[in-house]
Amino acid sequence: MCGIVGYVGTRDAIPVVLDGLKRLEYRGYDSAGLAVIEREGTIAVRRQAGKLEALLDVIRREPVSGNIAIGHTRWATHGEPCQRNAHPHVGATGAIAVVHNGIIENFRALRKLLKAQGRAFNSETDTEVVAHLVEGFLEEGFDLVTAVREALTRIKGASAFVFLSKDEPDRLVAARLGNAGGLTVGIGEEEMFLASDIPAILEHTRDMIFLEDRQLAIVTRDGPELFTLSGEKVNASVHSIPWDPVSAAKGTYRHFMQKEIYEQARSITDTIRGRAQFGRGRVRLEGLRLARGEAESLEKVVIVACGSAAYAGLVGKFMLEALARVPVEVDYGSEFRYRDPIISRNTAVLAITQSGETVDTLAAMEEGRGKGARLWSIVNVMGSQAHRISEAHILMQAGPEIGVASTKAFTASLVDLYLLALYLAEKRKTLEGEQLHRAVDALGLLPDLVGRVLDHGDEYTQLAHRLYEREHFLYLGRGINYPIALEGALKLKEISYIHAEGYPAGEMKHGPIALIDEAMPVVVIATQDHVYDKMISQVEQVKARGGVVVALATEGDEAITGKADHVLRAPQAPPLLSPVVNVVPLQLLAYRIAVRRGCDVDQPRNLAKSVTVE
Ligand code: G6P
Repeated sequence: MCGIVGYVGTRDAIPVVLDGLKRLEYRGYDSAGLAVIEREGTIAVRRQAGKLEALLDVIRREPVSGNIAIGHTRWATHGEPCQRNAHPHVGATGAIAVVHNGIIENFRALRKLLKAQGRAFNSETDTEVVAHLVEGFLEEGFDLVTAVREALTRIKGASAFVFLSKDEPDRLVAARLGNAGGLTVGIGEEEMFLASDIPAILEHTRDMIFLEDRQLAIVTRDGPELFTLSGEKVNASVHSIPWDPVSAAKGTYRHFMQKEIYEQARSITDTIRGRAQFGRGRVRLEGLRLARGEAESLEKVVIVACGSAAYAGLVGKFMLEALARVPVEVDYGSEFRYRDPIISRNTAVLAITQSGETVDTLAAMEEGRGKGARLWSIVNVMGSQAHRISEAHILMQAGPEIGVASTKAFTASLVDLYLLALYLAEKRKTLEGEQLHRAVDALGLLPDLVGRVLDHGDEYTQLAHRLYEREHFLYLGRGINYPIALEGALKLKEISYIHAEGYPAGEMKHGPIALIDEAMPVVVIATQDHVYDKMISQVEQVKARGGVVVALATEGDEAITGKADHVLRAPQAPPLLSPVVNVVPLQLLAYRIAVRRGCDVDQPRNLAKSVTVE
């Protein structure tokens, strides 16, 4: 969950590292720090509790410089967020510094052992044991790489590290153990970069190498050398990342989340482009290389995902079952391995993950693989673990998503699920001829439909002004729009800290109806489809109990105006694609309410963009 950046080259490393950390703040923002080898060969460390701005203040007061540095932005797991626990951590002598992402599961035992050897600890973190371990091996005369290798054989748990040693000032040593989030080496000219996420270094290079589990990289300004932890050389391939650096910048928007909401007409166009073959009733999906007969013999799809991606999966169930007639189960990544799922050779475990590094989703994928399933994924980050371990994948074309609350990756995954359903439908012959043509062509409407919602984006400010002081919200949806009620509620609670619940509309009378009074707004997704009349009856039931109704209704539906207190509008969309359009007003509503409440939209408290610890 923490963010890591490293630099070695000919420039001053400090601005590069700080800029990388700025771009990684979505990873964690409890504290930040950096370590640099100063020209006189000592390691200088600057750390501060709080957001990156606090570290910048420290560096303004006590400047440092050098050509090789590591930086960290923390999401606390062990030890409260304070300066003492901020990374980088150094051992007792200050000979090395380390930044870490992940959890060292046996750190208590190691700490006890190291303390018994007389090593004094300065923090409560698990990370500090590694600093002491490495330092101990250096004292025995090992070089940095060997010391790191020795230290890492003694620790348990998934982690990613980058080390600096004052005695080897030309190199960074990076290592990855298990699924603790990515570690990427960026290749420049006489300068190399390291980062936990691509956007941190995208401005400098698009040529990247991804470290695999149990690999170690020695990175000097001339390039990286990769090895397994046991010392065999690895020939890693360099990937060219298709993302444009501008796409990872906030531009004129106030928040990344706002920018990403408004980018959706574009990201949906990119998702469809070259894949939906309009007028031909066909879909081409590049990375989805299925074995001969795999689609036809598919017996079940099990979707595993977390957070918003899991809600996208619930929508995907409707799409895949309706179009490809394949049974679909949807499971939280964090729950899947705690039952004994029934998986056959003809089951596909489909992971949906923006980052491709969510530890629970990855664990669910491993569980699926262990039981003999085929592994598919819908993933945004190229080179991420989920991307690498899947046998078939669809790369979302959302571009970098920086806002902690997912928006454009959510809609991109819905469109990808629809594309996948069409692809399978064609192979399984569950849709043919005119029907298939119509289903493919429907995708062509989406950018305009989403664009029409965004054209009215400013109107949400007024409604937010009326609702921002409410403390509870209920969201109701039915059928394929029930997951959109869940997502709408999640968006609101994530960024505005208002308690919000999503509920299947028909279940309201089995509990939530008891909560309804004039203080609790009920957001009802009542766009025109086959459950419209039933949704109107929910509106009536809420009104009959004095509730406040915010209805999401189809453009031109005037009948609802007299029934609801506030009406949000969405254009009429093809039923299976309506979630893609309907979620956008709910994103805008949540965003505007959070801004009105003065919340930090891009860095909501306690959350992290990429959850790489269990
Ligand atoms: C975190 C983020 C969510 C995201 C979820 C799954 O909780 O805050 O926005 O939906 O992780 O992330 P993934 O990268 O797997 O889609």
